[in-house]
Amino acid sequence: MQTTLGIERRMMTLDRFIDEQERGFELATGEFSQILRDIVLAAKVIHREINRAGLTDILGAAGGANVHAEQVQKLDLYANELFKQSLETGGLVAALVSEEEQEPTVVNPSGRYVVVFDPLDGSSNIDVNVPVGSIFAVYRKLGSRFGPDDYLRKGSEQLAAGYVVYGSSTILVYSTGNGVNGFTLDSSIGEFVLSHPNIKIPAVSAYYSFNDAELHRFSSRLQAYIHDLRSRAATGESPIKPRYVGSLVSDFHRNLMKGGIFMYPGTSKKPEGKLRLLYECAPMAFIVEQAGGVATDGVQRLLDVRADHAHKRIPFFAGSPDEMAIVERFLKA
Ligand code: AHG
Ligand code: MN
Ligand code: MN
Repeated sequence: MQTTLGIERRMMTLDRFIDEQERGFELATGEFSQILRDIVLAAKVIHREINRAGLTDILGAAGGANVHAEQVQKLDLYANELFKQSLETGGLVAALVSEEEQEPTVVNPSGRYVVVFDPLDGSSNIDVNVPVGSIFAVYRKLGSRFGPDDYLRKGSEQLAAGYVVYGSSTILVYSTGNGVNGFTLDSSIGEFVLSHPNIKIPAVSAYYSFNDAELHRFSSRLQAYIHDLRSRAATGESPIKPRYVGSLVSDFHRNLMKGGIFMYPGTSKKPEGKLRLLYECAPMAFIVEQAGGVATDGVQRLLDVRADHAHKRIPFFAGSPDEMAIVERFLKA
């Protein structure tokens, strides 16, 4: 709110928020604040590159492929390096697990935290100007020496999870288990400022999101749910409408703010689905639950599923309680 002198009243920056709001929580230690700052630093540089991507040749495929043999866009690699450099410089992290690296990167064996991240989500949209994002989560390292048990975790063990969506504005949304808050990057001062305090997902869904081209490969129970969903929409019994841009962060953020259900189910061709548990689904599940929503793998609570591999894929359903209850009824019928 502007004062008479046009001075921003009570601008709550991310730093001040962490200090004020997280005080008394385990994560208010300087170490967590520093890890979040390291993540935010990487996000600010990615924001800058994305917003000038048209001016440099950073667009377009890097020609390589990542661990999933997916065509990797240059910005994926660049974003991955930024996260690694920023977190390695901080020195507080024992290891990093990235979508872009087959194996974890050990940083500082005595570090107390493990950070998992998808440095650039929705990368197929980079050169067509549809918003992309970054997704991250922070775990406490379990033992004295880093090993697989430190990252093969359940999402319920996350200390913090969040995402950045590089859209019409760049927004950071994160939770430390104490509610969900959104911060908008004011690039004129280079600060994330609190813009969406205490986010709660609307109970009623305005949107549903899934890749329609896969419908014929869904289970008969899920196809029955989709049929029911569409007939309720057609008869006006439900306000729900289809929206799907193919960027998890964008589809998820829109549904979080307006109410909705996001589905990336398993199919007859890929029973495990496409999205990765550790650095895509578990962070989003943590956030949606903290915002009053529900997330499952179609059978059980998503946050109760333990990763048995760093790049484990899992079917993903997340969103408003209304539709999540209905889809669950159909899948368990
Ligand atoms: P990434 O760019 O990190 O590989 O993630 C892409 C994911 C996710 O963002 C999105 O929801 C999904 O791919 C879209 O997949 P389809 O194109 O198969 O619908
Ligand atoms: Mn992704
Ligand atoms: Mn990615």
